[in-house]
Amino acid sequence: MIVANWKMHGDKQSMAAWIEEVSNSINLKNINPCIFCPPTCYLEYAIRLINENGYHIEIGSQILNYCFEGESLTGGISSTMLKDLSVEYVLVGHSEQRNFLKENNNVISKKIEKALNDELSVIYCIGEDIDTKNKNETYLFLSKQLDVLGRLQSKHEDKLRSITVAYEPIWAIGSGLNAEKKYIEKTHEFIKNYINDDLGWSNLDIYPPVLYGGSVNLTNCEEIISSTAVDGLLIGGASLNSETFSKIYNLS
Ligand code: PGA
Repeated sequence: MIVANWKMHGDKQSMAAWIEEVSNSINLKNINPCIFCPPTCYLEYAIRLINENGYHIEIGSQILNYCFEGESLTGGISSTMLKDLSVEYVLVGHSEQRNFLKENNNVISKKIEKALNDELSVIYCIGEDIDTKNKNETYLFLSKQLDVLGRLQSKHEDKLRSITVAYEPIWAIGSGLNAEKKYIEKTHEFIKNYINDDLGWSNLDIYPPVLYGGSVNLTNCEEIISSTAVDGLLIGGASLNSETFSKIYNLS
């Protein structure tokens, strides 16, 4: 799975051009889903363009909101609304949302639960900040984020196959400093082992793919994706350019 995360960029014109150019450039024999996450206000526009032209791009939402019972949220987007628009994927737990929107693991776990109930595929983002890395506490930090998935398994066993994990070290996001291949590989192995053994998903025969994100570009993508522990890429800045993104997709 190769995901373009446009964050808060683009407009209708640039999006229409991007969708057309990417659709005409990506190798359709590549079995990796090609997923586009536009800003929320353009979801319907992007879906219409893709459907009208029969393009092989799938759509993900960058956002999903959740309200606890009895609360209301002005401006919120529910998973039911996303499903209604025929959105297939949703990013949950991105570090920018954890940080700016003060989202904790409790809310994130509710979001994932709601998304799974509405039959969306969830791309669950996790990753450590630089202090945690420097203190050698990355695995402890990631295990707490992964425990969110552990909370779901008794109630949602049948839906766990719709979960993908995206490992995005916060210090690598948008910094131009991607994590090195060895570091990514070891961390992905930790994540997979934790899910298999500590959360016990190997007993359920469920092995979620693990994507890498954080300053992926045309120069480093091939090396990163060549690792057998890396199942795909979540790309921010480098996804904005249709030519760059298509090349990365075709190399993966
Ligand atoms: P980046 O963003 O590729 O610009 O580092 C990745 C992300 O935040 O998903």
